[in-house]
Amino acid sequence: MKSILEYDSVELSENGRDLIILDQSLLPNEEKFLHLTSAEQIFYAITLLKVRGASALGLTGALGLAMCMNRFEARTMAEFEKEFMRVKRYLSISRPTAVNLVWGLDRMESCYYRSREVTEGRPAAEAISYIQDQLTTEARTIKLEDVKMCLAISEYGASLLKPGSGILTYCNAGHLAVSRYGTALGPIYYAQQQGYMPKVYACETRPMLQGARLTAYELNKAGVDVTLICDNMASDVMARGKIDVVFFGCDRIAANGDVANKVGSSMLAILARHYGIPCYALGPTGMLDPSAPTGSDIVIEERPSFEVTDMYYDKPMAPKGIKVYNPAFDITPAGLLTGIITEKGIITPDKLGTLK
Ligand code: MRU
Repeated sequence: MKSILEYDSVELSENGRDLIILDQSLLPNEEKFLHLTSAEQIFYAITLLKVRGASALGLTGALGLAMCMNRFEARTMAEFEKEFMRVKRYLSISRPTAVNLVWGLDRMESCYYRSREVTEGRPAAEAISYIQDQLTTEARTIKLEDVKMCLAISEYGASLLKPGSGILTYCNAGHLAVSRYGTALGPIYYAQQQGYMPKVYACETRPMLQGARLTAYELNKAGVDVTLICDNMASDVMARGKIDVVFFGCDRIAANGDVANKVGSSMLAILARHYGIPCYALGPTGMLDPSAPTGSDIVIEERPSFEVTDMYYDKPMAPKGIKVYNPAFDITPAGLLTGIITEKGIITPDKLGTLK
């Protein structure tokens, strides 16, 4: 049987014509891989959280755009370029908060312009084939870079752990949310490999249950000691001394170090401060968005009400038509974080701007 760390939550088929994703909306009950072959299928897979997690979204954008362009049959460069820009714009609006999606697509656009320059004056068919190859290579390179970043984050994060450390985590910033290993869960896998046997408490993460369905699933499958708790039990486990450190992921970091992550992350940071427990956000430095001076400048996705009232219940669990507020992310103020664990090291939020 394949270990969870050998699964790819997002990958491009060998011929570059299919985007293959593990359908995370079916986990933990069914492991089903989907072959996506159009921009529309990718868009819906993203909005329905079949593929989710900031880094995985960046990879989906880049690999997905390469896939769409490999399939597109253009007679002229103008036709090819028009379709490239259409798909790029379309995918970029599928989810607003994670910086990675737009970052991945922008990086593909830079690759497109570089390749177009190289092929200036060549026959259209030759130029298009060259650009398709370059786009495919670029998207695969982004994925390899992500693996390296996750490994570095895992090592830095694990340096904070001791044998048997108790870790509280939120949502899913693990293997399923990235290329490999994860950001918040990366140090846990690393520590486990070193024989540290970490003890993880995973918050279920209402309403979409990424903690219960995905984090508990992947850690359990990897043989890590994981205990599932409801989100409102976080204070209890902290008060009982079971938690040495809080690790959660991030979707975007504002210039002042405020962090956007799954709604409820700020609640853990506030609790951690109360109990004197260190609290870290983990993510690559590419999450930093200098165009957002503070967390309040980050657009927070609002999701449909049925996720709160109906999803995962046999019958609706709230009165029909009740008003629902369902933001997907919240902002943890920089001042509540002990640090941000990046691929370049562990830094305090105020030092982010100094990173090169
Ligand atoms: O709505 P989701 O499931 O995409 O939210 C995911 C998170 O909040 C993760 O913590 C974050 O994207 C980091 S993934 C490495």
